[in-house]
Amino acid sequence: MEVHIRPARRIAGEVRVPGDKSLSHRALMLGALAHGESLLQDLSPGADVQSTARCLRALGVSIDFHSGGNGSEGPTVSVRGVGLSGLSPPEGPLDAGNSGTTMRLLAGVLAGQPFESVLTGDASLRRRPMGRIVEPLSRMGASIESERGRAPLRIRGGRLKGIRYELPVPSAQVKSCVLLAGLFAEGETTVVEPVPTRDHTERLLRQQGATIERSGRTIALRPGAALKPLALRVPGDPSSAAFWVAAATLLPGSRLLIRGVGLNPTRTGFLAALQRMGACVSRQNVREEAGEPVGDLVVRGAESLQAIEVGGEELPALIDEVPLLAVVATQAEGTTVIRDAGELRVKETDRLRAVARNLGRMGAEVEELPEGLLIPGPQPLRGARLPSYGDHRIAMAFAIAGLCASGETVIEGAEWADVSYPGFFEVLDRLSEPER
Ligand code: S3P
Repeated sequence: MEVHIRPARRIAGEVRVPGDKSLSHRALMLGALAHGESLLQDLSPGADVQSTARCLRALGVSIDFHSGGNGSEGPTVSVRGVGLSGLSPPEGPLDAGNSGTTMRLLAGVLAGQPFESVLTGDASLRRRPMGRIVEPLSRMGASIESERGRAPLRIRGGRLKGIRYELPVPSAQVKSCVLLAGLFAEGETTVVEPVPTRDHTERLLRQQGATIERSGRTIALRPGAALKPLALRVPGDPSSAAFWVAAATLLPGSRLLIRGVGLNPTRTGFLAALQRMGACVSRQNVREEAGEPVGDLVVRGAESLQAIEVGGEELPALIDEVPLLAVVATQAEGTTVIRDAGELRVKETDRLRAVARNLGRMGAEVEELPEGLLIPGPQPLRGARLPSYGDHRIAMAFAIAGLCASGETVIEGAEWADVSYPGFFEVLDRLSEPER
């Protein structure tokens, strides 16, 4: 599917973004492992979370979706938890689709099961590195066959033992995989993270009564406790809100209210980076929901933007927003430097390359580094025909670039946005005022 984007004058109005994808995966999985029924409001309606639901159903978990209220509010879902020992052997391979989180987190659960299962996914997911989870799960005692470190994964689970694991990459997916396997292990499982990464798994487990403690960079989980069911409203996805924050920042005269956005500090790196650049974003009505900080964001068009450097410890908190940050950087004064972002090469596509190529197609000069990008600015963007590379975040980041380009931009493969944000282009249409 192609979507045509025309330059916009400004962004105005109010929006609620779909429920957080990371939290939705975890709430479904942990609800499935709880004793009793979990009720999850405003779950992410994206295809990735549907993949998690499909896999859990194939493992014998009953999950009912009731359609959401109005507009972009997501479905309310009930999950009939089967307890830690209640999953049943699947009849065929479990298909994680395009979703790395589904595959890596579920592998942790499957490693603890007394049956064999196969996890596979689409062509993109079958190219992504899985050695990073095979290694710790094997050390815990699971037997996993892979295609040279890639899916499909054949997992023979069973009697696991707790380990102490120092994450070689700062990945919340790997951390969560090991912690989930730890629920089924004998003895304590400890994960040490080099840099803080999103901590939704730990927060949910704590709410469910698990014995989990953090001390500095070390998280320790002691198995044994039955998990309580969850009752929560999933906060709006900060990674989806980021597109509207960027659009409103880039277009002078914009004023936008985004309600109910998750503001977990392990996820707000993009807001912090944009504020350093000179963006006008304020947080209102900040409260705690579902054990997570949530608030409304008010964004106004920026008067001027300055280049910044991002890298090191702040990277995991904005990892999914780097393509969008690169788009914003083209409009900032000076050269923006993005370092320590090598992980972007193994996402749904090689995002460093995709960003450099698409900005190049729009007439911008960008230097691609082995683990980052150099983006001089300000540079005018020219409307162009842009592939999405089968990547939801590339499709949406370049739709935002199209709003501040001259002439028309065509996003090819725009349907990939449905992976995390069904309805994205309709919202874009509603919020943007075309140039006259
Ligand atoms: C996610 C963690 C991140 C992120 C992905 C979702 C999660 O991946 O890029 O979109 O839900 O844990 P890594 O943990 O591999 O960095």
